[in-house]
Amino acid sequence: MTIQKVGVIGCGLMGHGIAQVAAAQAGLDVIVRESNQGALDKGLGRVRKSLDKLVEKEKLTKDAADAAFGRITGTLELDDLADCDLVVEAIIEDLDIKRDLYQQLGKICKPEAILASNTSSFPIIEMGEASGRPERMVGLHFFNPVQLMKLVEVVKTDKTSDDVFAEARAFGEACGKVPVAASDTPGFVVNRLLVPYMAESIRMVERGDATPADVDAGMTLGCGYPMGPFTLTDYVGLDTTLSILEGWAETYPDNPIFEPPALLKQKVAEGKLGRKTGEGFYKWDGDKIA
Ligand code: CAA
Ligand code: NAD
Repeated sequence: MTIQKVGVIGCGLMGHGIAQVAAAQAGLDVIVRESNQGALDKGLGRVRKSLDKLVEKEKLTKDAADAAFGRITGTLELDDLADCDLVVEAIIEDLDIKRDLYQQLGKICKPEAILASNTSSFPIIEMGEASGRPERMVGLHFFNPVQLMKLVEVVKTDKTSDDVFAEARAFGEACGKVPVAASDTPGFVVNRLLVPYMAESIRMVERGDATPADVDAGMTLGCGYPMGPFTLTDYVGLDTTLSILEGWAETYPDNPIFEPPALLKQKVAEGKLGRKTGEGFYKWDGDKIA
């Protein structure tokens, strides 16, 4: 792998985890760009907390955690990512905002840089075209929580070059993940199955067929899933889940499975975005359901 310096854009739920595994597992230098100082401080604080947890659990030594944290720097300036070998974008799920960002990256990054998006649902090709370098663009879709989930989907478009795909795959492995190759189709492999399941669960509750707690008990105890769909939607973020569905509903208006449920829209309008805001389908006390 030739990648030595990684830029991560967005230090939220996903970005902080990607920065952490790139620095701690892959041992790479990482620069994280956020849009404001408060978000940057919060994101880097999350990395520190997660590394401390791994030290506490004796999964990492204190020296290794300190060294990993020392390899991560923060910035508010996109220009500071100019010399990165790989840039992984993990900003909010909004295609117009992402396109805008890739247009800027196309002007800023060195010509041999690899551009990667962690998008849950948007076509990777759209961002590649916006950057003006579609052959250097790939999808690197990590799973939440990045520190614990073993999978990364590596998404190749019709224009992604073979060496960019191979390098992205090697980066995923260096981060301690098992890469699976996916095509640039809506939701790639996992979300194409997972997100309609989440939406269908919400519709079940809307109809009054079951409560969120009973649906979750059904899927954990009946199917052995680690979390039921309502805990998972709270975990992923109701805003992110809604953005995914809205994007697909617009592109595929004839497929009712992508229709965003009214209850999901209502919760998002009320600011109940899940664990990150303290309430979604459940009330949360920090990391646990209250
Ligand atoms: N950093 C470091 N350590 C962490 C951590 C973090 N961020 N979060 C948890 N841990 C530690 C815990 O301290 C705990 O340590 P011990 O085992 O030593 O006690 C361990 O990791 C497990 O954590 P939990 O006690 O919370 O245990 P759990 O068994 O409930 O596992 C889980 C948590 C791995 C998240 C599990 O519940 C799970 O797999 N849930 C499903 C998650 C999932 O489906 N993710 C995909 C979401 S969809 C997506 O990501 C795609 C998209 O585009 C929307
Ligand atoms: P989030 O809201 O937790 O974090 C997004 C961060 O991006 C915020 O901190 C915000 O301040 C920052 N940001 C916005 N615009 C920016 C810009 N121009 N430059 C720098 N930072 C900017 O969202 P998230 O859940 O981490 O999702 C990020 C991406 O990862 C989305 O594309 C999402 O679909 C995808 N994803 C999410 C999950 C999940 O479970 N939440 C899982 C896999 C993939």
